Amino acid sequence: MIHPSAQPPAALESQLNERDAHGRHVTVLREAAVDALWPKEGGIYVDGTFGGGGHSSRLLEQQPAVRLVIAIDADAAAAPRAARLTELPGNEGRLRLFHRNFRELEYVVAEAGVPHVDGVLLDLGLSSFQLDEGERGFSFRHDAPLDMRFDQTHGITAADLVNTASAVELARILWIYGEEKQSRRIAAAIVREREKGPVSTTGELASLLERTVGGRKRSPIHPATRTFQALRIEVNGELEALSAVLEAATTALAPGGRLVVIAFHSLEDRIVKRFIEAASLTCVCPPDQPICTCDTIPRLRRIGKPIRPTPEETALNPRSRSAIMRVAERLDREGAVADQGSSA
Ligand SMILES: C[S@@+](CC[C@H](N)C(=O)[O-])C[C@H]1O[C@@H](n2cnc3c(N)ncnc32)[C@H](O)[C@@H]1O
Repeated sequence: MIHPSAQPPAALESQLNERDAHGRHVTVLREAAVDALWPKEGGIYVDGTFGGGGHSSRLLEQQPAVRLVIAIDADAAAAPRAARLTELPGNEGRLRLFHRNFRELEYVVAEAGVPHVDGVLLDLGLSSFQLDEGERGFSFRHDAPLDMRFDQTHGITAADLVNTASAVELARILWIYGEEKQSRRIAAAIVREREKGPVSTTGELASLLERTVGGRKRSPIHPATRTFQALRIEVNGELEALSAVLEAATTALAPGGRLVVIAFHSLEDRIVKRFIEAASLTCVCPPDQPICTCDTIPRLRRIGKPIRPTPEETALNPRSRSAIMRVAERLDREGAVADQGSSA
């Protein structure tokens, strides 16, 4: 049985990240993320995770002189929402949606016909729309085929994974991507279950997880929460895509351009933090080497401290409380801060 009342902890709410207590679509850090992009007149921005379009719409509204928003989403279902946004007065021709994986950001920017962009925004995870559509298989609260792909046009589904991966591989996925302490017990139970017949639906998997670990932990979270998160991350190659897009975004940004990333769990945030740190280094010589010989040119500089939703925002949208936003600025070819006159 699925526990309708079980609440996931903040760290695991990436799958619920943009709905308020009444289940309405609420974009996390909507104002703060757009402010951090520092939109300028004539600027071109990438919204790498268009979703419900909450950030894109705010960007177009806040800076009516923004030339173009290059929106990307792996989910074809984002298209009608983007179409509606472009039909609003003043938005015509200012937003183009690309049904692509954001790891291809550089190619998308080239396809849009622009040499560089002035900002890239990434609001990671999945949208409330995807969670709401029971048949997408993201939620253990709806019984549906176990799919979990952002892009349903290709790739393996969560059912493929659950029914074909070895016990060792499943345990690894649950341990690393779900931080699930009972990963081996769960993996063994899945393998036993599929010997009787394939595990094909979210309901079957959730029920198996309840039987396997449900009674064992005194946890406020549903016993399926960590496993569902882990399978979703693996099915979509989320962490690999994140590493790739950070590199691609840094290349695509014009000097002075901003990289703004909202993460919802520590696995994502660690990648973002380390990427910005590494790209900001001015020297990578061994610490005991007296003179720098590496000629490292930093590509980014960190802007401020990580930003979290205000108490007001988390009160309105409790599920935003796991969000953490990091901001960096693209340096010029010499590793210097760009002339702000040209980027502000
Ligand atoms: C949290 S939602 C974004 C919500 C959006 N900022 C808004 O205001 O409505 C994340 C979106 O990113 C998309 N997404 C996640 N990973 C992706 C990837 N690697 N490539 C392209 N889109 C991705 C998902 O399909 C989802 O629609």
